[in-house]
Amino acid sequence: MFKSSWKVGVLFSKTGVTSVIEKTQFNATLLAIREINAQGGVHGRRIEPIVYDPNSNPEKFRQLAKRLIINDSANIIFGCYMSSTRKAVIPIVEDYNGLLWYPTLYEGFEYSKNVIYTGSIPNQNSMFLARYLLSQYGNRFYLVGSNYIYPYESNRIFRDILASTGGKVVGEKYLPLDASYECIDPILVDILEKRPNVIFSTIVGSATSKFYKSYWRAGMQPRQMPIASLTTSEAEVTAMGHEVGAGHITAAPYFETVNTPANHQFVKSYKAMFGASQCTNACAEAAYFQVHLFAHVLRRVGTLDTDIVRTATLGTIFDAPEGTIQIDPDNHHTYLWPKIGRVDDQGKFQIVAETDSPVKPDPYLVDLGSDKSLNRMKYYESEFN
Ligand code: ACM
Repeated sequence: MFKSSWKVGVLFSKTGVTSVIEKTQFNATLLAIREINAQGGVHGRRIEPIVYDPNSNPEKFRQLAKRLIINDSANIIFGCYMSSTRKAVIPIVEDYNGLLWYPTLYEGFEYSKNVIYTGSIPNQNSMFLARYLLSQYGNRFYLVGSNYIYPYESNRIFRDILASTGGKVVGEKYLPLDASYECIDPILVDILEKRPNVIFSTIVGSATSKFYKSYWRAGMQPRQMPIASLTTSEAEVTAMGHEVGAGHITAAPYFETVNTPANHQFVKSYKAMFGASQCTNACAEAAYFQVHLFAHVLRRVGTLDTDIVRTATLGTIFDAPEGTIQIDPDNHHTYLWPKIGRVDDQGKFQIVAETDSPVKPDPYLVDLGSDKSLNRMKYYESEFN
């Protein structure tokens, strides 16, 4: 018999523009909780998720985070995808001393003592991606993104990286989050006029598959001018169809194709629980490992007290599907394994470059220009050509 449960909050959108990816983060969170409970829970107590659907809407995220902490006594919250939603939740976790576990890549330049950041940041994705693209495709880049904070900031950082590495930005445009095909067409016309070597996309959510489909229908060729992204994962490729995604590139610390025993187990369990056609991805992997890492900490401390959990989390090492990761005690972000993947004709990301060890997070890009970790990336390009 279980004693009373450990209540935790879960805030991922089942509806709204980013629900395709957030549903996978939700699934991975539930899978981890189910695995922990199947092993007897933590100190004989079950982890009980308190779940709301914030509808991809920052104001709803804010209200529901407050409700979780105040009404439901759930001070530990797993959630958020868009940076606008994380920025809406931070004042709540800071005011009421909660702890948000955020499993999504983002633009960096942030620190809150009430957040544990388990997704990748520019020194773990953009810097590797820029170097890879410059070496493989050329130096003319066209930046396109969704109209909110993450794409603006991510593109600003990408510009800085290009400026210091010989790249050029030949165009930059933003789409509404709920963009229609009609919004995309003039951007493609502009891209064809400006003739970049690479389109760097920070489009998120439902507009992603519309953008890639419009590119595909226009007969544009990924071998000559790929779309390179940090946000187009297996979830978005499944939504657009693999013939549309084939040949395009994403930088992330995890792809479903990662060859580790921990990942084989994760992928098998995920498909067993949610269906063989469902794919894992980097955001789902972070959502999964952060719950297991939290449970590991909870076993050690035996309390949900925010200050005690935070202190015990910092420095914790965990065997995640992507490899061994660690929460950096210096800045609350995570040591991760940068990789570049290219979509093959089955819709799978083939890993074309990766680092041989995890890379320390540098959220303020203190080391921009002198980061030795870039030299640790191995390229497998010839095997896939
Ligand atoms: C994001 O908004 N951090 C993808």
